[in-house]
Amino acid sequence: MKIGIFDSGVGGLAIAEPVWREFSGVEIFYIADKAFSPYGQLNEQQINERVLWCAQELERQQVDLIIIACNTATAAGVELLRKKYNFPVIGVEPDINFYQRGECSKVDLQKICVLCTPYTLKSLKFNNLKNLRDPEGLIHYKAMKNLARLVEDYFWSENLQKSKELLIDDLNKELNEDNFEYFVMGCTHYELIKDIIEKHTGAKAIGVADGIVKRCKQLFKDLKKMDGRVADSCGGFYFYDTNKPKWASVDLAKFISWPRE
Ligand code: DGL
Repeated sequence: MKIGIFDSGVGGLAIAEPVWREFSGVEIFYIADKAFSPYGQLNEQQINERVLWCAQELERQQVDLIIIACNTATAAGVELLRKKYNFPVIGVEPDINFYQRGECSKVDLQKICVLCTPYTLKSLKFNNLKNLRDPEGLIHYKAMKNLARLVEDYFWSENLQKSKELLIDDLNKELNEDNFEYFVMGCTHYELIKDIIEKHTGAKAIGVADGIVKRCKQLFKDLKKMDGRVADSCGGFYFYDTNKPKWASVDLAKFISWPRE
């Protein structure tokens, strides 16, 4: 089974890692579109050009399905890809109604804040979701202008201490004035630093990674039933950074082992 995953950078590793841990034997092809990041500052046409480009490169690797591990790219282009390809395309969107699944005791909706990129917040897809899940507009929504870029810088930084300080300054500046109890991660870059967000705000961070793993489980069952496509291979994780365009095999456990709390 070959899974193609893409994001504007390393944010999508927040999804790729649990998928890779859950399903032994899958091969993951991951594109970090760093040459065009952050997506959140682009317009719809620019994002969709990249969505199509990434999907085409993954198709060339003969993937069986694509996970768009990016809320911004999902908001702009998930329907586009679903129309174009006949393999499954999974998108990610903020888990706005997490509290309705009874996983936490009664929640005051005004204590929830959804964090997104600037593009996601103004996108039609996200606004439809918002109207459906929060018709009375009780929840707060906030566009984080710099956070995705700061997380990306932190991941690759040679001066972790300094990059982490910049990240925390941004969290303090943007998030500490209101007394929120929950932050919903509307960008996978934020989900990657869930623990840091929790530690520095005292609120609980709600991500989508578990939901995507569940979705994959169901999908793999269906694919197996349909055409037996879910065969184990020897597994592997392949990474492609559009700044140095070349597929490289990486040890994901090592790659991801940088301080996230
Ligand atoms: N990780 C992305 C998301 O989930 C994109 C962040 C960006 O490039 O602005 O929205």
